[in-house]
Amino acid sequence: MGNPRPEVIIDGKAAAAILADKITADVAELRWETGLVPGLAVVLVGDDPASAVYVSSKHRQTVAAGMASFEHRLPMETTEDDLLALIERLNGDPAVHGILVQLPVPPQIDAGAVLNAIEPGKDVDGFHVLNAGSLATGQEALVPCTPLGCLMLLKERLGDLSGLHAVIVGRSNIVGKPMAQLLLSENGTVTIAHSRTRDLATICRSADILVAAVGQPEMIRGDWIRPGAVVIDVGINRVTQEGKPRLVGDVAFAEAAHAGAITPVPGGVGPMTIACLLSNTLTAFRRSLQA
Ligand code: GUN
Repeated sequence: MGNPRPEVIIDGKAAAAILADKITADVAELRWETGLVPGLAVVLVGDDPASAVYVSSKHRQTVAAGMASFEHRLPMETTEDDLLALIERLNGDPAVHGILVQLPVPPQIDAGAVLNAIEPGKDVDGFHVLNAGSLATGQEALVPCTPLGCLMLLKERLGDLSGLHAVIVGRSNIVGKPMAQLLLSENGTVTIAHSRTRDLATICRSADILVAAVGQPEMIRGDWIRPGAVVIDVGINRVTQEGKPRLVGDVAFAEAAHAGAITPVPGGVGPMTIACLLSNTLTAFRRSLQA
């Protein structure tokens, strides 16, 4: 046990910067060829402070990549009908190639109805049932950004994932389920564990690849990690330690010295998520040019 050595730590920030640079160059080239740029619309309903930080960051990085950014900040009391009307407008706007509604939405709005109202070809979050179903059946899809970023980091570290046992802790539509589909498509052997799983520690110890996406600060202890396993920590938990606010993951990082590789929090999966959002927006734009 003890802190992982620097060479074991997966630098998500550096990987995201390389991906963003490539996207920026591709956007410039396509602009030269077509006179058009990809456009991303981000919709935030209400004033959740964490969501507001994410939305501002997405706006900044979209503009930095040379894309058009359309931000829609709506009041907390927005009705589902009002939000659906905005999505309808964005679906029909030729300057908008990607639409993202930041989650969570306030309780008067049915998130599922809203996500399924987004034109699937503009669904850069990959949350529409058509994209989820396409991913599950191996057809062309827009893939949720966080698991896509996790997969890129895993392939960069491990190369071929074929035959490896991946344990995913968490079964959300945003991370756990699409992560499982992506790892299956790479010929991994996949176990999805969750809050009702019996003997979670033993299952985690059998993993070559351990993906933690539960939203519980430092729930995965060091002795749940097999020596040499690659650990991807999706958690971003705000906690107070010794009177100071801190961000920690779902994995007890300071106990993971024996991991083969591990993503830190912050600076691991988080930056890759936004880079993959830009990548999905570019993909949606390219497909619109072929249509
Ligand atoms: N809230 C937390 N994660 C996400 C995400 O990946 N997409 C959206 N739209 N909202 C989120």
